[in-house]
Amino acid sequence: MRKIALFDVAELDTDEIRRVDVDGLPPIAVCNLDGRFWALADTCTHGDASMAEGMIEGNNIVCPYHSMGPCSIALKTYPVTVENGTVYLTET
Ligand code: FES
Repeated sequence: MRKIALFDVAELDTDEIRRVDVDGLPPIAVCNLDGRFWALADTCTHGDASMAEGMIEGNNIVCPYHSMGPCSIALKTYPVTVENGTVYLTET
Protein backbone atom coordinates (compact mmCIF):
# COMPACT_ATOMS: atom_id res chain seq x y z
CA MET A 1 0.00 0.00 0.00
CA ARG A 2 1.13 3.49 -0.77
CA LYS A 3 0.14 6.50 1.32
CA ILE A 4 0.09 9.72 -0.68
CA ALA A 5 -0.06 13.31 0.61
CA LEU A 6 -2.65 15.24 -1.43
CA PHE A 7 -3.08 18.77 -0.05
CA ASP A 8 -3.58 20.83 3.10
CA VAL A 9 -7.00 20.50 4.79
CA ALA A 10 -7.56 24.27 4.46
CA GLU A 11 -7.41 24.04 0.66
CA LEU A 12 -10.80 22.31 0.33
CA ASP A 13 -13.83 23.90 1.95
CA THR A 14 -16.90 22.02 3.17
CA ASP A 15 -19.07 20.70 0.32
CA GLU A 16 -16.34 21.22 -2.26
CA ILE A 17 -14.83 18.61 -4.59
CA ARG A 18 -11.43 18.66 -6.18
CA ARG A 19 -9.80 16.46 -8.78
CA VAL A 20 -6.33 15.20 -7.93
CA ASP A 21 -3.89 13.40 -10.17
CA VAL A 22 -1.60 10.82 -8.60
CA ASP A 23 1.13 9.00 -10.51
CA GLY A 24 0.01 5.47 -11.36
CA LEU A 25 -3.68 5.97 -10.52
CA PRO A 26 -6.67 7.11 -12.58
CA PRO A 27 -8.00 10.61 -11.77
CA ILE A 28 -9.41 10.88 -8.26
CA ALA A 29 -12.10 13.17 -6.84
CA VAL A 30 -11.69 14.25 -3.22
CA CYS A 31 -14.59 15.86 -1.40
CA ASN A 32 -15.09 17.49 1.97
CA LEU A 33 -18.40 16.59 3.59
CA ASP A 34 -18.82 18.48 6.84
CA GLY A 35 -15.12 18.28 7.59
CA ARG A 36 -14.68 14.63 6.61
CA PHE A 37 -12.70 13.88 3.49
CA TRP A 38 -13.58 11.17 0.97
CA ALA A 39 -11.82 9.99 -2.17
CA LEU A 40 -13.29 8.18 -5.14
CA ALA A 41 -12.66 7.58 -8.82
CA ASP A 42 -13.18 10.87 -10.64
CA THR A 43 -14.64 9.41 -13.83
CA CYS A 44 -18.35 8.61 -13.72
CA THR A 45 -19.22 4.96 -14.39
CA HIS A 46 -22.07 6.04 -16.70
CA GLY A 47 -20.15 8.34 -19.01
CA ASP A 48 -16.98 10.35 -19.17
CA ALA A 49 -17.87 13.05 -16.66
CA SER A 50 -15.53 14.30 -13.97
CA MET A 51 -17.18 13.86 -10.60
CA ALA A 52 -15.10 16.77 -9.34
CA GLU A 53 -17.24 18.98 -11.58
CA GLY A 54 -20.43 17.67 -9.97
CA MET A 55 -22.35 19.06 -7.04
CA ILE A 56 -22.73 17.75 -3.53
CA GLU A 57 -26.32 17.22 -2.43
CA GLY A 58 -26.56 15.76 1.04
CA ASN A 59 -24.15 12.83 1.07
CA ASN A 60 -24.24 12.33 -2.70
CA ILE A 61 -22.28 13.74 -5.60
CA VAL A 62 -24.55 14.59 -8.50
CA CYS A 63 -22.90 13.93 -11.84
CA PRO A 64 -22.48 17.08 -13.95
CA TYR A 65 -23.48 15.37 -17.22
CA HIS A 66 -26.81 13.71 -16.53
CA SER A 67 -27.67 15.04 -13.07
CA MET A 68 -27.79 11.56 -11.66
CA GLY A 69 -26.59 10.30 -8.33
CA PRO A 70 -25.83 8.02 -6.72
CA CYS A 71 -24.67 5.94 -9.67
CA SER A 72 -25.84 2.35 -10.14
CA ILE A 73 -22.29 1.09 -10.72
CA ALA A 74 -20.21 2.00 -7.71
CA LEU A 75 -17.18 4.23 -8.10
CA LYS A 76 -13.94 2.94 -6.64
CA THR A 77 -13.21 4.55 -3.30
CA TYR A 78 -9.96 5.07 -1.45
CA PRO A 79 -9.22 5.37 2.27
CA VAL A 80 -8.46 8.93 3.34
CA THR A 81 -6.79 10.13 6.52
CA VAL A 82 -5.92 13.56 7.85
CA GLU A 83 -2.70 13.98 9.74
CA ASN A 84 -1.19 17.23 10.94
CA GLY A 85 -3.39 19.24 8.60
CA THR A 86 -2.62 17.22 5.48
CA VAL A 87 -5.07 15.02 3.57
CA TYR A 88 -3.62 11.60 2.65
CA LEU A 89 -4.96 8.93 0.32
CA THR A 90 -4.03 5.27 0.67
CA GLU A 91 -3.72 3.32 -2.55
CA THR A 92 -5.50 -0.03 -2.22
S1 FES B 1 -22.03 10.59 -17.21
FE1 FES B 1 -22.44 10.57 -15.09
S2 FES B 1 -24.57 10.13 -14.97
FE2 FES B 1 -24.15 10.13 -17.09
